[in-house]
Amino acid sequence: MHRLASVCVALVLSACSSAPPVRVISARDVVAEGGAVVSVDVIASRVGAEILAKGGNAVDAAIATAFALAVTWPEAGNLGGGGFMLVRMADGEKAFIDYREIAPAAATPTMFLDADGNVDPVRVRLGYTPVGVPGTVAGLAEAHERFGSLEWAELVEPAYELARDGIPISDALAASIEAEQAELALDPEARRIFLLDDGTYRRAGMRLVQSDLAESLRQIADEGPDAFYRGAIAESICADAQSRGGLLTQDDFARYEAKVREPLGASYRDHVVLAGPPPTSGGFVLVSALRQLEGFDLKALGAGSGEELHLIAETLRRAFLDRALWFADPDFVGVPVADLLAEDHIDELRASIDPVASTFSDELAGDLDGTLIVDESEQTTHFSVVDSEGNAVANTYTLEESWGAKFVAAGTGIVMNNELHDFNPQPGISTTKGRVGTPPNTIAPGKRPLSSMCPVLVFGPDGRLKLIAGSPGGRTIPSTVLRVVTGVIDHGLSPRAAIDLARVHHQLFPDELVLEESHTRPANAKLESLGHVMRSVQRIGDAHCIGWDPILKRYVASADGRRAGSAAGVVPIEE
Ligand code: DON
Repeated sequence: MHRLASVCVALVLSACSSAPPVRVISARDVVAEGGAVVSVDVIASRVGAEILAKGGNAVDAAIATAFALAVTWPEAGNLGGGGFMLVRMADGEKAFIDYREIAPAAATPTMFLDADGNVDPVRVRLGYTPVGVPGTVAGLAEAHERFGSLEWAELVEPAYELARDGIPISDALAASIEAEQAELALDPEARRIFLLDDGTYRRAGMRLVQSDLAESLRQIADEGPDAFYRGAIAESICADAQSRGGLLTQDDFARYEAKVREPLGASYRDHVVLAGPPPTSGGFVLVSALRQLEGFDLKALGAGSGEELHLIAETLRRAFLDRALWFADPDFVGVPVADLLAEDHIDELRASIDPVASTFSDELAGDLDGTLIVDESEQTTHFSVVDSEGNAVANTYTLEESWGAKFVAAGTGIVMNNELHDFNPQPGISTTKGRVGTPPNTIAPGKRPLSSMCPVLVFGPDGRLKLIAGSPGGRTIPSTVLRVVTGVIDHGLSPRAAIDLARVHHQLFPDELVLEESHTRPANAKLESLGHVMRSVQRIGDAHCIGWDPILKRYVASADGRRAGSAAGVVPIEE
């Protein structure tokens, strides 16, 4: 505990410094005067903003927020999962920190199949088979080593206290526990922590204490990432895995490395978009769609018009075909990203779009047969951070499904991912329902499953940071981000207005246009008349963004609000 104790002394000292007095405020939208954090959870956003108020930079705040979300938003915030952090410092340095999970050494391409060669619906989702070696702690440590300015322990400390002392359960967390209670009840540890003795679930306003998680966080604070990958936590998780027929070993943990990759950069109109390279496909799908859209005047068509939504859907359809054909972990498979974004290829895709008729996916895809869809839930979580210097972080991380593999590794308090579910589970079988069985993304030891996560930073013509964005939503993620980015760039909207635009999604298979039900009737009628098969859903994504507000001439952090969310910012105390 002595590192935590020294942090407390440091906090008292810094409170006595001569820095101008500031306080942290939280709301749905916050003008980011002294920096801001926006996430799905108000407590976690405030933890990040408090770090900014203490003089930490955007990366420090992002690390503290990520640890806090592991306590306050256990359905997706995590220590037992993985994700991507996109960083751009005010001095121009940038990095894409890839902390995606990896398949254990004993993983095989057919491990999710039953004796008949079909995907076993339980093995692919629940228990230890779909669990990848978690990357979150390594990713946050890598970010800290490269960019952090405060002590590591100081960034873990708030999460430790929240787990130890308990949090009030929010409406959103209560709804999440309720939604998953049947599967959480199957695991004795998850049941003990998140459900009540009588088998019902914990409700809003009750207190949630997570003592085992607090102890894991204390070890991570004191010993750094080695506690997780080489120490007591790895030992406990692997012992639990072995007792439940899992594949994870301590060697798998010791071998885990976060990777720092060059962000995928592209121009769109007179802006620069920075996004993620493989092993996520999210950045590529976003950029491919944007480059195709560059040939059309979206502004003239109007945000949310049937004509505009048709073009967005058609560009996504084509980007998703390239995704299925080529995308996977680039350390295992050559992914020709530059060729797929080259002018001639994009021109060809654009030329194949009929502005007055939808394309049939099976005609476009040729012999990429369709497949059973593995349903993708709405979980994962994205948060955005900016500090007073203009350093920016877009971070999306996940357990894959809501509550991952729906269990807690015994003795650790850590909810485990089911990320290996993102590999193509049945090699060779693709279907019109959405399953992809193309070769690149098959399971192999040490390989990262293909992702759709899409943290993004956008810069204006003057080089000024204009938008920090991202979202959960499985394959709908790049579609959500595309709607926000085109809202800001093409339609000149504030981040708030761009977040509030009704969203649209197409992923090639199933061949359907998914629309939020808030779309206008004329837009729906137009899309139907163009030949789209439409499916209406209540909501798509959850994009917590920070952006330059053209009217206020300030950065504003805006929570999405489709599920929950809050921004927290640092503001001066008026004397
Ligand atoms: O990495 C991915 O793309 C998925 N595992 C993310 C999962 C997700 O967003 C779940 N649904 N919202």
